Amino acid sequence: MNDIARMGALAPQDQADESMSAFWMPFTANRQFKAQPRLLARAEGMHYYTPEGRAILDGTAGLWCVNAGHCRKPIIEAIRHAASELDYAPSFQMGHPSAFELSRRLIELAGPPFAQVFYTNSGSEAVDSALKIALGYHRVRGEAQRTRIIGRERGYHGVGFGGMSVGGIAANRKAFSGALLPAVDHLPHTHNLEHNAFSRGQPAWGAHLADELERILALHDPSTVAAVIVEPVAGSTGVLVPPVGYLERLREITSRHGILLIFDEVITAFGRIGKPFGFQKLGVAPDLMTVAKGINSATVPMGAVFARKGIYEAFMNGPQNSIEFFHGYTYSAHPLACASALAALDIYRDEGLFERAGDLAGYWEDALHALRGSRHVIDIRNIGLMGAVELAPRPGAPGARAFGAHIKAFFEHDLMIRFTGDIIAMSPPLIVEKSQIDQIVERLERVLQAID
Ligand SMILES: Cc1ncc(COP(=O)(O)O)c(C=O)c1O
Repeated sequence: MNDIARMGALAPQDQADESMSAFWMPFTANRQFKAQPRLLARAEGMHYYTPEGRAILDGTAGLWCVNAGHCRKPIIEAIRHAASELDYAPSFQMGHPSAFELSRRLIELAGPPFAQVFYTNSGSEAVDSALKIALGYHRVRGEAQRTRIIGRERGYHGVGFGGMSVGGIAANRKAFSGALLPAVDHLPHTHNLEHNAFSRGQPAWGAHLADELERILALHDPSTVAAVIVEPVAGSTGVLVPPVGYLERLREITSRHGILLIFDEVITAFGRIGKPFGFQKLGVAPDLMTVAKGINSATVPMGAVFARKGIYEAFMNGPQNSIEFFHGYTYSAHPLACASALAALDIYRDEGLFERAGDLAGYWEDALHALRGSRHVIDIRNIGLMGAVELAPRPGAPGARAFGAHIKAFFEHDLMIRFTGDIIAMSPPLIVEKSQIDQIVERLERVLQAID
């Protein structure tokens, strides 16, 4: 038995496995995990496989990211080819063809108003890059006083100091509260069980919450505000779908005050809600858009910022040989990431996966909402191929119930689901079959019956 198989075979156990101690796992209850490891050894299509060979149905596309399904041959081949042809090329003062080709393809896919793409290696870096682009944009236009950024409660924008500051998840912020960006404020979140429980798609109630932006702007003086950043559908906090009319109001208010609107589409881009990008489905175009994850079906770390026409041009002044924007990463537009993204875009197009997500959205919605009335369930919400089932918290132990569901689903029902607080979130790969949607929901129902 090799080491990995041995670790898997140990679960569940009481004592942490010492051979695992060297890996400080991110966003993980390390001691709990190492006492009860949940190991994934390989993957294919809609499934992960444990070291012992158990097939786990992937109800979450990894971390909302494996949109084309696992281990797709054309992507593997593209990475293999790129690695043997051009292992690495700098994007500082140099370039390579696939970066330019990918940018053309992405801009074509997004359509107006977008005109340029800036590459990063993650969603967090995409967010911090977008914030820097927003600040730089106002400065080069002579509005350097615009330094304030408005985020939203319960927003998740990654873990860089910028993203963490504009984000609104208290647990992610509290240990660093003295070091957050100073000029930040937050809109209220839009979650309200009293008005919106069991909404299908966009809830009817809540557009007025966007008007809070006017209040915040009046407090700070709108001419000091650089940008407003929101996830069009808040994902990591547990799938909060924007109320009807809400994003339209944010757009109207930001435009009126010369403030950039940033959509963080790290989850919603690349088909998740039934169009290539979430903004296309929701009908409101931002000025900047951050993406990552599905850009190459998560095969090589990559993120990007899309800029609407006019933003890049504003930077293009001064002497020809001057660097216009002092920002970038060693691995911006890495050749392997670009190759995998081009291959993923081909799969998305050739298999019609974005349209497929849109076509399956109704089936997904009906299947999820069939859990209404199941044990512990106090809300179900959905859009495209993402959805959440919110559970009543166990008295005195918030988060314990959904965590228990996650463990039981993995060990006893061969199902991968995500949990945040007492919310179970799901977002299957876009290749999911109707029969697999049924399986996800049936297994989840059995889990809910079984947990305390
Ligand atoms: C909306 C959003 N922004 C940013 C991020 C951070 O991305 P990464 O983990 O690639 O840094 C995430 C990750 O889930 C996200 O959902």
